[in-house]
Parts: sequence; structure tokens; C-alpha cells
Amino acid sequence: MGDVGTEVGDRYWHNTLLDSASLLRRGIGVEGSPDEPPKFKSYPGLRALPLPQRLPSRLGPVTAAFGEHVPGDGRTAPLDADTLGALLHYGYGLSRVDVGPLSGWPYHRTVPSARCFYPTELYLWLPEDGARPAGVYHYDQLHHAIVPIRRGDHRSILGAAAGADLDGAAAVLLLTSHLWKTAFRYRHYAYRLCTQEAGMTAGNLLMVAGCLGLAASVRTRFLDEVTDRLLGVVPAEERTMAVLPIFPSRPAATAEELLTRLPEISPAFRDVQKDVTLASDTYEIDAHSVLTDLRPPAPPDDVDLVEALRLRNSGGTLFKPVRRPMAAADFRRLALAAAPYSGDLGTVPLGTSHLVAQHVTGVDPGVYRLPGLDVVGEMPQGGFDEGTGPPIVDMTGVNAMFYVVANRDRMTERFGARGYRIANLDAGIAAQRLCVLAGAAGLAARPLNGYRVASVQRLLGVVDPAELPMFQIAVGHRTVNAQYEMPIVF
Ligand SMILES: Cc1cc2nc3c(=O)[nH]c(=O)nc-3n(C[C@H](O)[C@H](O)[C@H](O)COP(=O)(O)O)c2cc1C
Repeated sequence: MGDVGTEVGDRYWHNTLLDSASLLRRGIGVEGSPDEPPKFKSYPGLRALPLPQRLPSRLGPVTAAFGEHVPGDGRTAPLDADTLGALLHYGYGLSRVDVGPLSGWPYHRTVPSARCFYPTELYLWLPEDGARPAGVYHYDQLHHAIVPIRRGDHRSILGAAAGADLDGAAAVLLLTSHLWKTAFRYRHYAYRLCTQEAGMTAGNLLMVAGCLGLAASVRTRFLDEVTDRLLGVVPAEERTMAVLPIFPSRPAATAEELLTRLPEISPAFRDVQKDVTLASDTYEIDAHSVLTDLRPPAPPDDVDLVEALRLRNSGGTLFKPVRRPMAAADFRRLALAAAPYSGDLGTVPLGTSHLVAQHVTGVDPGVYRLPGLDVVGEMPQGGFDEGTGPPIVDMTGVNAMFYVVANRDRMTERFGARGYRIANLDAGIAAQRLCVLAGAAGLAARPLNGYRVASVQRLLGVVDPAELPMFQIAVGHRTVNAQYEMPIVF
């Protein structure tokens, strides 16, 4: 077993992306049947530690979520309870309860999930902080609390398993997929959904950590059996999908502060008499090139990440967007979905993102490649065809469609069978950013897996058959519906 050989991976790439109908014909389960697992994992015998029940109502502009933070200097600085609470709730908390005749699935989180099954579980390793012992905890969304499941530091084992130096880590988040939570219904197809959703959850945690000024990264290659055992999950039934070390970020230096700590010296050296006014342009441009501050410029004022997360929505059971254009600035901001992120994958994102503009004020309909929004193709006559999937969404009203394309051959060459999981994690990060950026524009974003790969490749002008669209997300204005959507506000 393990990531030796690629036969199983090759077959899964093929079956889920190129022949999913056959895969689903091999059987699907029934929602509401006795084998449907609960949506929230609970540990009846363990006492949860409540997190502060008041959360910050602002985290900062959504654009600040993409800033890169440099990890601190190796001294452990535990997260204070307010920061930890904000990271967990906004990162992967219960955010909304829908009631009403059309509300198919009542419980929603800050991250979407196919049919709201939520196979992703969030665990965390925390260092000792005086009030709370070091150990491994599970995040209980329903009660906004953490449940201690293993005491002890275990930092060296976790660091060795994840190939990461955890000295000074404020926390390590571990995302698992509890496979049966999705597989009871989707059976063989579930691994695709589970890995997509784990990627989206990682993407959301990165954004929230970014706004909180934390240095977070995503590790995709680690010793699964070790992390699984650390979390006490049932082997091969619940699997670690990603490990996210979180560090306090190092405040960037200013010249003024450093200069007070550095006495001047003036060693004599052989020099000449000079008249610098004769070369004033040289001295002028040099003076104007001096940096006095390495802090990133404050991001421009924008919609707060909290508001964007509250507005993130997949558009209801049937998504029939109102045909109304979106603003060009909102369309351009969607391109942040393809911003780089930190982790163990080298140059990222690995996938290539595209936006297809249909109704955007001042932007020609067409196919645009991210991050630069370079035009790479035209919008087909007649708009999106039936290759974009079953009519859950009225495609004529969609403002823009988002795609992430991964190269299957390259992923397999580099990562073996694990390449499938890694491609979905990487694509999921961009996908979740897109959904939240759509929320910031007051628009719904609906992940839709039921597309035909060949149609999408044609639309995007992809010629290499190994380049496979991993995500399709429709962005549009929601209609009024008969649903009461209650935000969960702590
Ligand atoms: C990975 C993934 C795949 C999805 N695929 C589909 C799909 O094929 N068709 C569909 O109608 N909705 C799909 N959805 C949308 C979910 O059903 C929707 O996000 C869920 O109902 C939660 O609603 P919310 O995002 O508004 O909280 C998908 C969601 C995810 C995360």
C-alpha cells in the first residue's frame, strides 16, 4: 500500500473525472437512512473546554487575507483564547442555519460541503499555555469548544511526521476526512468530494489566519499513519488530509528601530575630495530608493473578511441567479483566488485558474487566465452549453464561472497516487478563496462537479488531455427565496 505504484491513482483520476456516471452507477446510498452518520463529531465521554463565546465582529479587509506573514523567531507564543476562538470559528465553524420549505440541509459552515455532509474534521495540537495543557484537541463546532483527546506535548513526533520544524509553533491544525460521512451516499465517488472539501477548508483557515496576522502554511506530505494515530481516529476510516502549522508572525523591521540598536562607526579609508552636486541625479535616485520600513503596506479598505464569510453562500438547493451584471472591480478581485500560499509544495498554486466572464460591466465576455486575467478565449455563442452540468443552476444568469485545472500526469509523476489528493487540496484552496471573494461582492458561488471534462477543456482552450478541470464554480446574484437563513453569531 502507500504511494507506491500509480495504478490505483490512475484509475481514480479516470473514474471520477472522465467517467463519473459509471462510478455513480455502481451504487449510491440514501440520505436519511440509518447508515447516515451525524454531521457533527462528538465525544460523549470527554469534557469540552469552551472557547470565548464572543467573537470579533471584524477581522480586517478580505484582501489582507492574502498577505504573506513571516514566522516568528522560534520562541513559543501560545495563541490567546480570543485569537484561537476566531481562527476556529471563522476558519471552519458553524455559520448558518437554514429553515423553510426549500432548505434541504439546515446546517452550514464557513466552508461549503457537498450536500452539507461535512466529512472534514478539524483537530489541533496546542502547546501548554498555563491554563490549558499541551495536547491534541478536536474542534466542536456546535458548542464552539475544543475537546481534549490526547494530553502531552508530542511536538517532536508531529514535527517529524510532517517534516516540519515546529519550534515556536502557536498551534498545528490537522484536517481529516471522515470518509463515510460522504461515502454513505456517494460511495466510490466520495474521495473526490472529501479531498476537494479538505482543500477548501485549508484555504479558508489560511485566509482567516492571514487576517489574524498569523503565519500559516499547508503541508500535504506527512506520515499519515502517525498523524492518524496522534488524533486517535479509526485507522483507514478517518484520514489526515492536511497539516497546517501556525506561527505567530514576526513583526517586520523598521530602519528607525534597528538603527537605535546599531552604533555608528566611521573607519577612516582613503577617499577623494568630491562635489556630489555634479552628479545630483545619481544621488537623488539613490536617496529615493532607500527602504525604511519592511512592513507590508496596509491593504486598501475593503469588505471585512467576517462579512465576506457571512455572505458566502452556494445559492440554495436550486441556484437560479438573477441576470444582473457584476462590477468589474469585484470580478478583478476574484483573481486573488490564485494568489500563492505557503506550504511544502514549492511554487504554488499548482493548478491554473480561469474565470469565464459572462455578465460583467465593462469586461468583455470571454475566458481569462489568472492571476493576471489574461484573455485566452472567447465566450462561446449561446453561452455555457449543457457540458457544464445538470440544470441545478440556470447558467444564463451566471456572472462568471471559475475553473481550476490540474495536470494529472505531472501530479502523478511528482506525487504518485497521492497526486490526486494533492491536486484537490491545491485546487480547493483557490476554490474556497473564490467563494469567499464572491461573498465579499454580495454574490453566491456554487461549486458544481457535474460538468463534462471535454466541454470545459474546449471552453478554456485546453489542448493537453492531461490538463483536467478539478473545480467548476458558478458565481451569480441570488434570488429571493422562501428560506430563513439565520446567521450563527457568537
Ligand atoms: C466539493 C463540492 C462539490 C459540490 N458539488 C455540487 C454539485 O455537483 N452540484 C450542486 O448542486 N452542488 C454542489 N455543491 C454545493 C453544496 O451542495 C453546497 O455548498 C451545500 O449545500 C452547502 O451550502 P452553502 O455553501 O450555502 O453553505 C458542492 C459543494 C462542494 C464543497
